[in-house]
Amino acid sequence: MADCGGSVEAHYTSPDLGEAILAALKAAGKDLDHLTPDDLAPVDEFHGGQRPATIRLAESVGFTGAERVLDVGSGLGGPSRFLAWHYGCRVSGIDLTAEFVRVAEMLTRMTGLVGRVDYRQGTALDLPFEDRCFDVVWSQNAAMNIGDRDRLYTEMRRVLKPGGRLALQEVAAGPGGPPHFPVQWAREPSISFLFSQGVTREKLEMAGFRVRIWQDTTEAAQVMAQARARAAEGSPPVLGTHLILGTDWPAMFRNSARNLEERRTELFNAVLER
Ligand SMILES: C[S@@+](CC[C@H](N)C(=O)[O-])C[C@H]1O[C@@H](n2cnc3c(N)ncnc32)[C@H](O)[C@@H]1O
Repeated sequence: MADCGGSVEAHYTSPDLGEAILAALKAAGKDLDHLTPDDLAPVDEFHGGQRPATIRLAESVGFTGAERVLDVGSGLGGPSRFLAWHYGCRVSGIDLTAEFVRVAEMLTRMTGLVGRVDYRQGTALDLPFEDRCFDVVWSQNAAMNIGDRDRLYTEMRRVLKPGGRLALQEVAAGPGGPPHFPVQWAREPSISFLFSQGVTREKLEMAGFRVRIWQDTTEAAQVMAQARARAAEGSPPVLGTHLILGTDWPAMFRNSARNLEERRTELFNAVLER
């Protein structure tokens, strides 16, 4: 399978992202000396459903706070900081996009979470961690850029302790045909890899996971996506994921809603056990 890591990183990279986020936080009246993960949630939860979706997936896992967690495709770090801050977990994040890792580290310092959350730049297809060292592997809206799912899920299993859990929020291919582009994860098809929920589940089981929870969340995602598409007709809020996406963000929001409506895409949450 072609290695398109460079194109994926180019898709997500915008220079001066950190400065743009700090300026937006100031404009939104946030106190930069006392930032909390809640202040950042409109911009650093970079997936469908944002913070409420993170809470829903975390509740499915049932964290106690004692878990050592790996967030695969950790982005700007919103979910990883939330798990550390709210539940007390110790979280590592790995992400392909160097700029995102830099911003994630900056926001972690600014929220006083250094020592509880750390980030590495690297690929999910070759995780730089020992075998069996995490209680939970977590990933939200990252696999749609990864074609080699067999290797991805094998790597996720390798770093999990026996009995450890994999928590996923993923975009799946729907029966309605290929997605309209651009979308948040790709401006064109060469870096977008969607599989149906059925095929994804088979691949996870082949990699050695047992499904504990599988929830189709397409309807809920559609409601949120429609609201965001309507909001994209006006001027953007001061703080939002449009800061990450570039000038074509209104088209991305519109296409996300349309893809869900036409069942070109579906969303699901799953918790699996090694
Ligand atoms: C839509 S963002 C989601 C970020 C984060 N999970 C969140 O929900 O806020 C997708 C992320 O996956 C990362 N990614 C894509 N392919 C990857 C790979 N092969 N290895 C590691 N990270 C990858 C991207 O760099 C990007 O940060």
